[in-house]
Amino acid sequence: RRRVRTHQLRRMKQDGQPWAMLTAYDQYAAEIFDEAGIEVLLVGDSAANNVYGYESSLPVTVDELIPLNRAVTRATRYALVVADLPFGSYQGSPEQAYDTAVRFMKEGHAHAVKLEGGAEMAPQIRRLVDGGIPVMAHIGFTPQSEHSLGGYRVQGRGDAAAKTMADALAVQDAGAFAVVMEMVPGDVAAEITERLEISTIGIGAGSRCDAQVLVWQDMMGLRTGRLPRFVKQYADLRSTMLDAARAYADDVRTGAFPGPEHTF
Ligand code: KIV
Ligand code: NA
Repeated sequence: RRRVRTHQLRRMKQDGQPWAMLTAYDQYAAEIFDEAGIEVLLVGDSAANNVYGYESSLPVTVDELIPLNRAVTRATRYALVVADLPFGSYQGSPEQAYDTAVRFMKEGHAHAVKLEGGAEMAPQIRRLVDGGIPVMAHIGFTPQSEHSLGGYRVQGRGDAAAKTMADALAVQDAGAFAVVMEMVPGDVAAEITERLEISTIGIGAGSRCDAQVLVWQDMMGLRTGRLPRFVKQYADLRSTMLDAARAYADDVRTGAFPGPEHTF
């Protein structure tokens, strides 16, 4: 299997073949998802919450994300690896966006970058695409704007649907190869998907997108607390790991580990 490229994703949309994307932030997760045939791996700025233990995605820096990108790309042979640009590293100007994206491509070994925003980010998207960097856009609920959007809530309901459609068309016109739609009503996401030539990737955007994305620690049951409604849990890794850690500690305390077979 050859490495996925953006033109292949476009062909899959034309063929009506949905594809899958997951986040990844380290070697083994990346290797496993790559082997499973996940077409796109996103080194999300959600590493803020899922790797670094921050409360939101706002604090994570370019310097914190680049080494994760490098690990993910090195661990994969098939997946297209997308680097998420963190808050504050691209909104300032197209040149700032370009300089940041170049770092992720050169030092992070990413194949594409992702940034949040619709029509207002069109100059940034255009600048990167002109510079040879494929761009994935992200509209609807955009976590980096949590404070101006008034918290985690569905975007594009009612009258706001027209703005979401306009954002989707704007990022396509600016040259994005795909667009994530987060927490957008299913019928609005479906209409956008029909209208666009580029792939739409849903997260809390219903079933009629060209692709879906989830954060892997959410869908594999690693994280604690209540999951968002749009997450389906496919595994319970937290209990698996908790049981293993407890069994190991018990064995050490009782002397059951190491046994003769573990001893030189
Ligand atoms: O950072 C992230 O995990 C994301 C996806 C949820 C799309 O942006
Ligand atoms: Na993100």
